Amino acid sequence: MLPFSWFVVCFTLLITVYGHDRTVIHFPEAATNQANLSSAHLPSQSRHCIVTPYGWGRDDSSQILAATQKCARNSVITLPAPFVYTISRRMYMKLDNVRLEILGTLSFTPDLLYWIGNSFRVEFQNQSTAWIVEGHDVIVTGGGWRQGGIDGNGQAWMTRAAGHSNQFGRPIALSLYNSSNVLVEDFSIWQPQFWSFMVQDSSNIELRGIYINGTNTDPNGNSSNYETNIDGLDTLRVDNLTAADWLFHGGDDCLAPKGNSTNLTFRNLTCVGGGVAFGSLGQYPDSPDYIHSVWAENITVAQAVSPILGGANVSGGAYFKSWVGVSEGEPPQGGGGGTGSVANVTFTNLTVHNTTNAISINKCYFKVADQANYCDTSTLEFGDLHFEHVQGFVSGDVAIALNCSAAMPCRDIEIRDAFLTSAKNGSTKVTCDNVVNLEGLRCNTTLSR
Ligand SMILES: *[C@@H]1O[C@H](CO)[C@@H](O)[C@H](O)[C@H]1NC(C)=O
Ligand SMILES: *[C@@H]1O[C@H](CO)[C@@H](O)[C@H](O)[C@H]1NC(C)=O
Ligand SMILES: *[C@@H]1O[C@H](CO)[C@@H](O)[C@H](O)[C@H]1NC(C)=O
Ligand SMILES: *[C@@H]1O[C@H](CO)[C@@H](O)[C@H](O)[C@H]1NC(C)=O
Ligand SMILES: *[C@@H]1O[C@H](CO)[C@@H](O)[C@H](O)[C@H]1NC(C)=O
Ligand SMILES: *[C@@H]1O[C@H](CO)[C@@H](O)[C@H](O)[C@H]1NC(C)=O
Ligand SMILES: *[C@@H]1O[C@H](CO)[C@@H](O)[C@H](O)[C@H]1NC(C)=O
Ligand SMILES: *[C@@H]1O[C@H](CO)[C@@H](O)[C@H](O)[C@H]1NC(C)=O
Ligand SMILES: *[C@@H]1O[C@H](CO)[C@@H](O)[C@H](O)[C@H]1NC(C)=O
Ligand SMILES: *[C@@H]1O[C@H](CO)[C@@H](O)[C@H](O)[C@H]1NC(C)=O
Ligand SMILES: *[C@@H]1O[C@H](CO)[C@@H](O)[C@H](O)[C@H]1NC(C)=O
Ligand SMILES: *[C@@H]1O[C@H](CO)[C@@H](O)[C@H](O)[C@H]1NC(C)=O
Repeated sequence: MLPFSWFVVCFTLLITVYGHDRTVIHFPEAATNQANLSSAHLPSQSRHCIVTPYGWGRDDSSQILAATQKCARNSVITLPAPFVYTISRRMYMKLDNVRLEILGTLSFTPDLLYWIGNSFRVEFQNQSTAWIVEGHDVIVTGGGWRQGGIDGNGQAWMTRAAGHSNQFGRPIALSLYNSSNVLVEDFSIWQPQFWSFMVQDSSNIELRGIYINGTNTDPNGNSSNYETNIDGLDTLRVDNLTAADWLFHGGDDCLAPKGNSTNLTFRNLTCVGGGVAFGSLGQYPDSPDYIHSVWAENITVAQAVSPILGGANVSGGAYFKSWVGVSEGEPPQGGGGGTGSVANVTFTNLTVHNTTNAISINKCYFKVADQANYCDTSTLEFGDLHFEHVQGFVSGDVAIALNCSAAMPCRDIEIRDAFLTSAKNGSTKVTCDNVVNLEGLRCNTTLSR
């Protein structure tokens, strides 16, 4: 063990002198000795690539990418703590049976023009991403709670956007794409540039022990929401995904499953500044959105608006939103006319602190003003939704708002054991439009306490 450590030190010094890339590769015995990893997850027969940063703000993305190519299969890749790695170029990694240990911090440069011009483009809403992992049997770990991960230097993005949503080129921090059997654990994202995670075209994904904190510190925020688009996770065409043990602070959706997300489990999430939003859905007329089979347990959603720095008014703990049935404008800021369904969703133990509603369905989502004339036109179907043990308080007096469309009413909604007060400790109401078969509560009544 000792000789190996000396080898690393000498080798590191050597390459410092010669300024070559700092990736150190070695083979199984050394890997298990030196790295002190949770060996249960070490791929057998593994290579081990270790990367230390160049320092002085020099870009490390190229040497990290080189390591992910050398150790792309049956390997362990370690970026040790407490190092900070400068990422000034986009990254795409293809990994197969790899444990990627980001024990230090990947600091994505706030070189906005570079990222706007060069981020990878994402099909959905013409969004962008700074880093893509495409992998099978992959573990990405930050090594511990609030230890390794990403610093997105997102303040520059928040200040530039100043509350405007979906600015072109603002990149998602980390996207998992075309992947299966991926576990992201004990991973932190500080000041994400935009959405923290996106998972697309993937299955068997788990994100566990996730800490995300995107907090505006620009005083111009002044009660408005500079943290717009600081989401936790967005999913598109994903089957069998679990998000568990999260602490999220942002100014937009904590989780936002989008079209064709199925078999989702959400467990033990504390979400400050954003709730669990199904959608937005129905934005694309030629591509229906289905979200089926969701289990959500022990979710807490809190609103936090600072008078000085701002923050988001959180629409709901659980919030279902579809665009109107008439398409106007181009995504991301326009759209609508799409269809599909959301079904077999169960929430158990949902707690809210001062959100606008605890549960809401809004089938009148739009961004082009004229679309307000078409609120009753969405044919996207919400049904077979179950909520039990819903508690806490809401900012107004409507705790549950079910605004469905005449074109496709919501059906079979069950809400049991809802104990919800208003912020002033008053009673709250349930409002409904176009709801067929509400069980456990009656429409347009005051919630009993
Ligand atoms: C390394 O492993 C030993 C024994 O399992 C443990 O006591 C120690 O805390 C670990 N060190 C780190 C840095 O993880
Ligand atoms: C994405 O948005 C950029 C900037 O507005 C635009 O130039 C580009 O054509 C758009 N791409 C697509 C596919 O809509
Ligand atoms: C779902 O994914 C998990 C890994 O996150 C895996 O253990 C489990 O077997 C998968 N379930 C199915 C039905 O494939
Ligand atoms: C997020 O960071 C801000 C600023 O550093 C801090 O005040 C806040 O407590 C953090 N939130 C969480 C949930 O850790
Ligand atoms: C819930 O998640 C938090 C992290 O936000 C973690 O500290 C806690 O141990 C988890 N609780 C359970 C019961 O797993
Ligand atoms: C969801 O999981 C069930 C049970 O494991 C499985 O039969 C079904 O195929 C999955 N759904 C999709 C869309 O893959
Ligand atoms: C969802 O799947 C259906 C086929 O079942 C497909 O027609 C539709 O385009 C998909 N939607 C998205 C958003 O990929
Ligand atoms: C409904 O969702 C649950 C998870 O909440 C899942 O276990 C069950 O298989 C789903 N039922 C159907 C019919 O898909
Ligand atoms: C509900 O969830 C909260 C945290 O989200 C937890 O503190 C509480 O004990 C849970 N209650 C039940 C009955 O599971
Ligand atoms: C939900 O919280 C309660 C109380 O803390 C705990 O007993 C239960 O195991 C939790 N459920 C999950 C799935 O974490
Ligand atoms: C609840 O939110 C409202 C704004 O929606 C705010 O004025 C009020 O101070 C908040 N109350 C609490 C108890 O956080
Ligand atoms: C609830 O009130 C709304 C709006 O006033 C009305 O359209 C709807 O028919 C009412 N529903 C029931 C079941 O009374």
